[in-house]
Parts: sequence; structure tokens; C-alpha cells
Amino acid sequence: MFVDRVFVPHGLAPDRAERARWPFTVPAVAQLLNEGLTFMRPVTFLVGDNGSGKSTLVEAIAESFKLDAYGGRLARVHGRPDPTRTPLGEVLRADTTRAGARMLAGPRRSKKGFFLRAETAFDMTENLGGVPGYWDEDTSAMSHGEGFLTMFRAMFDAPGFYVMDEPEAALSFTACLQLVGLMHQLGERSAQVVCATHSPILAATPGADVIEVGDHGFRRTAWEDLELVDHWRRYLGNPNAYLRHIVP
Ligand SMILES: Nc1ncnc2c1ncn2[C@@H]1O[C@H](COP(=O)(O)OP(=O)(O)O)[C@@H](O)[C@H]1O
Ligand SMILES: [Mg+2]
Repeated sequence: MFVDRVFVPHGLAPDRAERARWPFTVPAVAQLLNEGLTFMRPVTFLVGDNGSGKSTLVEAIAESFKLDAYGGRLARVHGRPDPTRTPLGEVLRADTTRAGARMLAGPRRSKKGFFLRAETAFDMTENLGGVPGYWDEDTSAMSHGEGFLTMFRAMFDAPGFYVMDEPEAALSFTACLQLVGLMHQLGERSAQVVCATHSPILAATPGADVIEVGDHGFRRTAWEDLELVDHWRRYLGNPNAYLRHIVP
């Protein structure tokens, strides 16, 4: 692992006026401000409904480890992208492990891992197939989901810190299962994954830590107790129990 905990140091804590504004009004962010967030396993999922604050958290976590969306490789191809700056990322700091501290202190090219946003991921599959340092396959000629999986296989090539925001967006059931295999393998190989998801498939990755994000803030939860899993179970058992409220 590379990061043990993320937290906002006292000296950087927002004042009362700032706390009354986004993003500090999001319950999960308010809790993070008070307690920090500890990573206990190599693979951590943040699971929650739309708007619960998952993207706000993972963007800031990526920023706290100075990750960019292209894993430090883009500089070789397109010049250095602007680093992301978010109000939470500005004040969030990472407690690193020794390996994490070494990686942070080292040159940019020694930094392994990346921050995957759904938008950049699609852009990468369209533009980076065949580019040296990426992958050989022409992912622009693949389906969206196939391109994603090919990219994941190529980019998950080293122990590093991988932060992902809903990587399941383009993936079918079976492709999600393959991604579970890849993430699990990363976790076994001294890498670290922090992933926002709504996929009950991804969240079931063996050995992963699952943190449920919502109006309550965030809390560690067993996969089988996730609200998401409960909804899927009930929906698959009887879609009409939901649909009768939606389609009159
Ligand atoms: N740039 C922004 N300015 C103001 N509010 C925002 C901004 N980005 C997100 N929000 C709000 O913050 C909350 C959490 O958003 P987000 O982290 O994107 O949730 P999730 O990724 O879980 O769907 C939502 O209510 C959203 O509307
Ligand atoms: Mg989001």
C-alpha cells in the first residue's frame, strides 16, 4: 500500500464560512474533515448513490497523492496536463507508507498508478492505442467496453496507487467480472486501489474494504449490507415492486 490515510490538517481546515459552502456541506466531506479516512486494505470501494460525494472524495484523494489522469505518462506525448485543483484537494493531505513516500519524493516518471475519470478514460481509449508507453491494440476500433478492458490491462502494469471513478460505466456484466479479477490482482501485487462505484459486482471483489457513502457521511459496511446490494436483490427478484412507482 502507498497511502494509509487521508486527512485535513488543522492548519488547513476551512473556517466556518467555508464550511457552509460546497464541498464541505456534503456529509461525507464534513466527516472526512473531522475524522480523516483510513485505508485498511489494498482495495477500497466507495459505494453510494448519485450525489453522495464519491467523485468529490476520489478526486481529492487522487490530488492528495499528486496523481494525474494519465498516470504520469502523458507528459511524454502531449506535454504536461494541468493538475486538477479542487477545493477539497487543496486541503487534503495523505499519510503515506514508506513505499508511498518514496514514490511521492521520486521523479514524476517513477510514479506508478493513475486517476481514472470516466471522461478521460474514453478519451484515452480513442487516442492512445499504438502510442509508445501505452498499448499496442487499436482501442479506438473496439467497442467502448472492450477498449476499457484493454486499457485497464495495459495500465495496471505496476504496483502503484490507482484511483478510479466509476470504471464500470461502459462495462457489461462479464467485463465487470474481468475488471474484478484485474483489481484483485493489483491488490495482491502490492498496489493500492481506491474506487468509487455503483457496481455491486465490483464492490464484491474478494478482500476489499467497502465504505458506504451517503446522507450519513461514510461508514465501513459489509457488501451484503449495502443499500445498493439490497436494491439489486429486490429489483431482480421482482422488478415490478420498483416499477409500479415509476411507470404508472
Ligand atoms: N463543482 C461543484 N460545485 C457545487 N456542487 C457540486 C460540484 N460538484 C458536485 N457538486 C455537488 O456535490 C454533491 C456530491 O457530488 P459528487 O461527488 O459528484 O457525487 P457522486 O460522485 O457520488 O455522484 C452533489 O450534490 C453535487 O451536486
Ligand atoms: Mg460521481
